[in-house]
Amino acid sequence: MPDGARRGLFHADEISPTDLAKQIAALDQQSRLPGIPRLRAWTISALGLKPGDRVVDIGSGTGEEARLLAETVGEGGEVIGVDPNPGMRTEAERRAPRARFVDGNAYALPLPGESVDAVTCERVFQHLDHPEQAAAEIARVLRPGGRVVVTDVDWATAVIHPGEPGIVRVMTESMHGGVVNPYAARRLPGQLAGAGLTVDDTGSQALVQSPAAATGPLVAMIARMAVDRGVLDAAQSERFLADLAAGAQNGDFHMSVTMFAVLAHR
Ligand SMILES: C[S@@+](CC[C@H](N)C(=O)[O-])C[C@H]1O[C@@H](n2cnc3c(N)ncnc32)[C@H](O)[C@@H]1O
Repeated sequence: MPDGARRGLFHADEISPTDLAKQIAALDQQSRLPGIPRLRAWTISALGLKPGDRVVDIGSGTGEEARLLAETVGEGGEVIGVDPNPGMRTEAERRAPRARFVDGNAYALPLPGESVDAVTCERVFQHLDHPEQAAAEIARVLRPGGRVVVTDVDWATAVIHPGEPGIVRVMTESMHGGVVNPYAARRLPGQLAGAGLTVDDTGSQALVQSPAAATGPLVAMIARMAVDRGVLDAAQSERFLADLAAGAQNGDFHMSVTMFAVLAHR
């Protein structure tokens, strides 16, 4: 498989203006699932933010999380979104005018040491080749007593139903191959502890797709990827798609992956 395919849509090495609309559409589709707003609400409460706090959101994407953070810390506070993708930063500036968005990388945050009260980082670690380096950067910029929540999925928790068991297993496994760090979530506590932080709690939510996903672009893309990788043939892929579509029509459909949000402090 070419390295680009393994790296997936959101990796920092693969930023092209033409992908931007697709990236934003994918994030917006996921943000509409109940699991994302629930886990963001948990995150904001777990961070114990106060008016006036200074917060950095790493890999800020469309700025939706930064917008919520800015509402929480108020006018006297400051929210800085860091993202290497200029198109994402432009979109984030539009959606979260009270936050500030800067060019930067999780591996070398453009911030002095001990300069922020809180850090958030959602659905970024799965795209990082060196997540432990990003954890070290979080520990560097947090002030003593400052808190962080790093949120990500663990692709081994993916569930798809219905379908022939052998085909479903291959399809589920082929979802793991879409990112460089597919089991990001289970590694977060160890990486944050390894950076010298104290892990306090873990929140979680499954991202449960609606039955409409059975005939949507995400499932079609997963099926195409499995055929391209040669792990299923075209006939098996068609049977998979037909089984899902029939299940969705009868109300017998489930597709999810679980997100974990790890709270730690310095
Ligand atoms: C899946 S999106 C998540 C966006 C946002 N955090 C959210 O949850 O809606 C991943 C984001 O991480 C950014 N990203 C990718 N590699 C990065 C890196 N090395 N450092 C910082 N951000 C990165 C991408 O540009 C993209 O905006």
